[in-house]
Amino acid sequence: MRSQRDVLDPALYEKTRLPREEAATLPWWVYTDQTWFEREMETMFRPAWHFAGLASSVPDAGDFRTLRLLDEPLLVVRGDDLQVRVFRNSCRHRGSLVVGEPSGSCRGLRCPYHSWTYSLEGVLKHAPGLEGYRRDELAGLGKDLLQVPSGVREGLIFVHLGDPKTAAPLDAYLGNYLSTVAVPHQTAQMVATEEREYTLDSNWKLYAEVDMETLHTKHIHRGSIGEQPVTVPASEGDWIGVYHESAHTPALHPGERKSGFPHTTGLSGPATRGAHFSLLLPGFFLVTAQDVMWWIHKLPDSATRTRVRVGYSFPASTLARPDFDEVSKRYYKRLNQVVDEDDWITEYQQRGLNGSAPGCYVPEEHVVHRLDNWILDRVLGV
Ligand code: FES
Ligand SMILES: [Fe+2]
Repeated sequence: MRSQRDVLDPALYEKTRLPREEAATLPWWVYTDQTWFEREMETMFRPAWHFAGLASSVPDAGDFRTLRLLDEPLLVVRGDDLQVRVFRNSCRHRGSLVVGEPSGSCRGLRCPYHSWTYSLEGVLKHAPGLEGYRRDELAGLGKDLLQVPSGVREGLIFVHLGDPKTAAPLDAYLGNYLSTVAVPHQTAQMVATEEREYTLDSNWKLYAEVDMETLHTKHIHRGSIGEQPVTVPASEGDWIGVYHESAHTPALHPGERKSGFPHTTGLSGPATRGAHFSLLLPGFFLVTAQDVMWWIHKLPDSATRTRVRVGYSFPASTLARPDFDEVSKRYYKRLNQVVDEDDWITEYQQRGLNGSAPGCYVPEEHVVHRLDNWILDRVLGV
């Protein structure tokens, strides 16, 4: 096995640094090696902002949802002041989960173990075992729920799980993503209708790479997408993406595309005539089409295992349509099929990697080359 010194030696990656035409793909061990994986966590995943769901999933005061990101239990709550906050879902008494349900609505947050109770803003209000303490003394204990840096932009909730003192501002992370994609596509109107989470036996980068190239669509997605030519929008900040121009939704099978839902109201610019497939680095893949938005969020559990969070969403006005249940079935069928196809190919690819010789990037993989070089910049710190 390679030593730590070996895998982090920039000289090993010089061929990936070359212009796309001459470049070699990343060596196989970056998809399997534990040292490399730990460095990715430290240099890419901890310092990044991560998607934690849609603000529309917690529309009213007291609405909450729970999730795990980078194996940390989190609690998203809308407070009485209507602000969305994210806390570590960990009781300040002895660390139990405070809330166990995936989502719901409440007037306060009560840990079931010994019934310590917190306000919707995370303030400790009641602490059995400490009955002698007055309310101001409880406040002095410093036992409120720990809040995680978070922000809502265009209906998307983001959290930061690294050192808050060194966190880059959320708006710097997003760069021109909001003005180029989120605002034109009206992401704030979207309401999640399906969400699921599972793990795959593959390295997260394989899934990020497949999302950034269109070469595979006519092979892997032969019966679901077919050919899908793309252009590349100018991106600033920590995102990259591709844009597919099409008068009709890409979220239905090719023969059904003219019978989809109406376009979201208020679309502007390229959003009126196509879909953006964006990767908010490192692993949040968000597709915004004229009528639907979906995401495939990849978070590594280990070097060879990836947690995948998939979600589909439509504008609130579409959900209100009497034909929503019937028509949306066709969207789910097509979306699920494509996700299954990409799940399959990334696990299949992983099985062939060990000991493989360097490959190459063909012209339709130029965004993958860019992505892989961004990864090298971060991991190698150059
Ligand atoms: S661990 Fe939560 S009240 Fe004791
Ligand atoms: Fe794909």
